[in-house]
Amino acid sequence: MKGIVLAGGKGTRLHPLTQAVSKQLMPIYDKPMIYYPISTLIAAGIHEILIISTPQDLPLFERLLGDGSAWGCQFQYVEQAQPNGLAEALILGEAFIDQSPVALILGDNLFYGQNFTPFVQAMQRTKGAAIFAYRVNNPSRYGVVTFDDQNRGTSLEEKPEQPRSSFAVPGIYFYDATAVEKAKKLAPSSRGEIEITDLNKNYLNEGSLKVNPLSQGATWLDTGTIDSLLEASQFVQALQSRQGVLVGSPELAAFQSKAIDKNQLIDLAEQSGASAYGQALKRFLHQ
Ligand code: G1P
Repeated sequence: MKGIVLAGGKGTRLHPLTQAVSKQLMPIYDKPMIYYPISTLIAAGIHEILIISTPQDLPLFERLLGDGSAWGCQFQYVEQAQPNGLAEALILGEAFIDQSPVALILGDNLFYGQNFTPFVQAMQRTKGAAIFAYRVNNPSRYGVVTFDDQNRGTSLEEKPEQPRSSFAVPGIYFYDATAVEKAKKLAPSSRGEIEITDLNKNYLNEGSLKVNPLSQGATWLDTGTIDSLLEASQFVQALQSRQGVLVGSPELAAFQSKAIDKNQLIDLAEQSGASAYGQALKRFLHQ
């Protein structure tokens, strides 16, 4: 399975922070935001990854992430010229996807949980499309899903005023090879974007949208507002300082998914130098 990280958008809800710098490069505690979704993919064994961003920001992501070889991965880059919607990622990624199944993750979504990686690995084997469902207090801010006792999607709505459930759809989606053709046929919504929710509705109407409720043990954070950005940093800081874990590290994800070996991880830890992040990698090596 291949992976796409979509790190586009203008980040207007975070101005002035994001006036000059991409939202997905903002710090979440000790590392850039995009490290978290990238490590989610790498940990699940998805090592061929396409990063999509605006023409202005794409060079910054390339400078940060390179060609992926240091982490035993292959990264490619494609511009999204205009914010035409999340589903456009599949169309822009057509050559990269090359008829494979694909996971799409949003560059501002952070997932954490002990059983999360096996869960993601299981979703890669789903036929059709698979999404998660996560209970939230404010479903109207998200895509909202209902599903039956076989976990088949029964309704999907984007930011409904009257949500039919409290299950929001987090920003990670798994698709079979038909997603590109389905995305090409989508009409723009009233806000002028081709919506990921409309792509997912296509699968729902075919009866092939699997909806996996995330267990209580897993955490999904989005970082769309200034308060949620701070909360995400506090969450990571608390986990790392209290439990001694390192969350959202592509280096560790690469090691744990066997994309790199221990010597390569030692070299990477050395390269991170005296930063808190480098120290945390070294602590992991000594455990
Ligand atoms: C997007 C999707 C929405 C999803 C959310 C997850 O919304 O349109 O369905 O629930 O991401 O973060 P956005 O936050 O880009 O408005």
